[in-house]
Formats: sequence, structure tokens, C-alpha cells
Amino acid sequence: MKRTKIKDLLNAVEGEVLVKGWVRTRRDSKGGFSFLEINDGSCLRNIQVIADHSIPNYSSIEKKMTTGSCISVYGKLVASQGKGQNKEVQAITIDVYGPSPVDYPLQKKRHSFEFLREIAHLRPRTNTFGAVMRVRNQLAYSIHQFFQKKGFVYLNTPIVTTSDCEGAGDMFQVTTLDILNPKCVDGKIDYSLDFFGEKTFLTVSGQLEGEIFSMALSDIYTFGPTFRAENSNTSRHLAEFWMVEPEMAFYDLDDNMDLAEEFIKFLLSEVMENCAEDMEFFNKRIDTTKLETLKNIIDNQFERLTYSDAIRQLKKSSEAFTYPVEWGLSLQAEHERFLSEKVFKKPVIVFNYPEKIKSFYMKLNEGGETVRAMDVLLPNLGEIIGGSQREENYEVLLERMKDKDLNPEKYWWYLDLRKFGSAPHSGFGLGFERMVQFVTGMDNIRDVIPFPRTPKHAKF
Ligand code: 4AD
Ligand code: MG
Repeated sequence: MKRTKIKDLLNAVEGEVLVKGWVRTRRDSKGGFSFLEINDGSCLRNIQVIADHSIPNYSSIEKKMTTGSCISVYGKLVASQGKGQNKEVQAITIDVYGPSPVDYPLQKKRHSFEFLREIAHLRPRTNTFGAVMRVRNQLAYSIHQFFQKKGFVYLNTPIVTTSDCEGAGDMFQVTTLDILNPKCVDGKIDYSLDFFGEKTFLTVSGQLEGEIFSMALSDIYTFGPTFRAENSNTSRHLAEFWMVEPEMAFYDLDDNMDLAEEFIKFLLSEVMENCAEDMEFFNKRIDTTKLETLKNIIDNQFERLTYSDAIRQLKKSSEAFTYPVEWGLSLQAEHERFLSEKVFKKPVIVFNYPEKIKSFYMKLNEGGETVRAMDVLLPNLGEIIGGSQREENYEVLLERMKDKDLNPEKYWWYLDLRKFGSAPHSGFGLGFERMVQFVTGMDNIRDVIPFPRTPKHAKF
């Protein structure tokens, strides 16, 4: 007989079934029955199994069928008498694949998320983490759907790279050289002897390579891991995170903002529709305003304002910020959250940032003070998207590179795109984990990725 997943069992017709999963709880009644709650991760809900102590092999499995064990139950699916569930399985035979002794760490009590991070190999078996992973999966699927429906080409950009897209340093180096004894020439490591014949890093972004393909295929998107060696120990930063980066030929900054807004709204509505049960759970357990917030975001326009207006808004508020507010300085998380949570109470897109604080590739506005950058800020989260229209003018780009101390020779191919058939184009990057965080309401980004990498932590 074929196994049925619990998600399907709850809607299946009554009759004989085979169900497999992990025991969440077990309760023994005096009347010669055990009640087992089984979960197989196909949905949040468990199925209750009733094991009559008179089933044939009961004595051999009795001690093994404990919390955490993995079992296979052949039995009869019937309407349940008990409250709280509408179907249950009356076991005919039970096999125990893997018993689970009493030192199984996930016993009945609720554990802190910090504790669960220490047992990253078992935390997928908790309600919260299971729900997070199903929502994460839905988001990944919806991301592909959104871009595929629009005719974007999915592009895989390299993980190992020689260029630093954001120009911010903070990259992980990749080498096969003997780090205790590298060969040096004139006191400097000879990277011609390294695996790739030059210094290489893990990528911080697939954007520059994405631009190459948008200058041929028009609309592309990447969706892959990116790495940043910044020492940011916050609840919003990972050293390894996934990013979605669309890049569109012939888009200006307004088109770019329109796409970003449509994209976020699409993802939220898909999750609400397809993960209703898990979202109810988050709304009950993690953030009781979540569903209402998401619905409001879907139904309303994002606020759009220039960086200069954002500074004006912040300056006229009486809020005591930790970081200074001054035209020309970066907006800090506290400023971003203040704008979206207190001033506008909805998602905000800030655009036209000072040239000095943004990357070399962003298109210079007339006057040369600002660039066509945009950040999308969400309430309770802060920055979810960073993007821009790209500088398509060869001379201007070359100047900006020099200004920012980048070596144009290293970016010769990037400059070539401006030399041969240049076109206006734009793109943005959405932090995938931040999206999962926002949707679920999970406080810490470490709890929305299977295996978080943060400073001093890559254990699992
Ligand atoms: O704003 P960022 O640095 O933009 C880029 O990398 C551009 N190349 C994107 C583009 O135009 N194609 O990063 C984009 C998004 C941020 O808005 C944030 O959501 C997320 O990536 N992000 C992080 N997420 C988790 N941990 C980190 N350390 C992150 N750094 C950025
Ligand atoms: Mg950014």
C-alpha cells in the first residue's frame, strides 16, 4: 500500500491508509489505548493515531513508540470522536522505523528559538520551523512564477568571482594556497599560483553579471546565495543569504519601482492564499497583526518619496534617534523603520539618494548630486529591496569608478556594455530571508534559514 501524506489524509475518504511520520506526543489511557500525534511535515496539523494495546506486535513496539520516534501506521481512517480533529487513524499494525530515547531534546515544553538554533538538525521538527520552511518554499516558488509569467529568463550567476559588485569590501576570499606558507614576490602573495590564477572571492551580488545578460535577453532574474563578510551581528543580517535580482533593459527608475511594488504584493497574496494554515499559526503565535498588515499592504499603494524629503520628514519629527539625520548621511535602520512605521504606516520607497553614499553603477541625476537609487522599506523590518537605474553612459561611469577608487581595467567588460549597444536599464535586489522574516513575523533572521551563517557561527 502507498503511503498517504497527512495533508492529504485530512481530506481523504475514510478507509484503510498507510501513514508515516514522527511522534509528536503520546498519551496512554487506562482503557488499553495509546493516543499518538503524528506529524510528517506536509502540513502544520498532526494526525491522531489510536493504538489499541491488543494490536499484534504491541508488546515489541510499546517502549519504542515515544516522542520523537519515527513510525509507520497501517490502519483505518475514521471520523474522530474527540474534539480538535475531524479524522483519526485506528491502527491495525504499527512498525517503528526509529525509536527515540528519553533524551530526545524536543519534549513537550516550548523551547526558545535560541535553544533551537543549537539543535539545528532537529528544529525542523517543531511547529514553528516547519511552518517557516513551508512559507519559505512557497515564496521561492512564487518568485519564479512572478518572473516566469512576465517572460524573464532565470539566470545563474557565478558564486566565485574576482569583482566586488557593491564596492564595499567585506568579501570572503576563496583560495587553495597554503595559508601558512604562501609564496610571495616582493613581500606580496603571488596569486598567479592560486587556483584561478588571481585573487577570488565569494560573490556579494549577481548584479553585474545579470546586467550582461539583460543587455542581450532584455529581462532576467537571478535567485541564489550571496555572501557578505560584514561583522553585523543583528537580527537582519546573515553572512550567507539568498537574493533575488531582476535586471531589466529599457526600464527607468519609475518602472523599477513599479515592478518592485507589484512583486512584493504578488508574493504576499500568494502566501496568504497558499499557506493559509501556516499563516494563521504565525498570526496567532508570533504576531497577531500579521494577516491584517499583509492585507493592508496588498490593498494600498506604497509611499514614494525622495531621499531629500525623507530627511525633511525625519528632521521635523521629535523622535530621539541614535544616529544623526543629515543630508548626505546614510539612512540607518532606525530611520527607515520610523518612516514606514510611524510617518506613513505602510511600505515606503525612498529614491534619489546622494551620489556619495551609493554604489558606482547607479545612474547620476542631472546636477550630479544624487543617483537614481531606490530602497523599499517595510514596517517592522526596514530595507527589503535595494536597487537603481544603472549608469549607461560610458564616460560618466568611468568617472564615477575613478571617483570611488575602482580600477576600470578590472571592470573592462562592464564598461564594454556601455561601449557596444548601451541601453537604459534598471534592476534591484530583494533579500530572500528578510522577505521570509517579514511574512512570518519571525524576529530573528537566523530562524528563517535552514542553517544560518553569522560571525563566529557556521556549526551545522
Ligand atoms: O541593497 P543591497 O546591498 O543591493 C545589492 O546587492 C544590489 N546589487 C542589488 C541590485 O540592484 N541588483 O542588497 C539587496 C538586499 C537588501 O535590500 C536586503 O534585503 C538584502 O539584500 N541584504 C541582506 N539580507 C540578509 N543579510 C545581509 N547581510 C544582507 N545584506 C543585504
Ligand atoms: Mg542596500
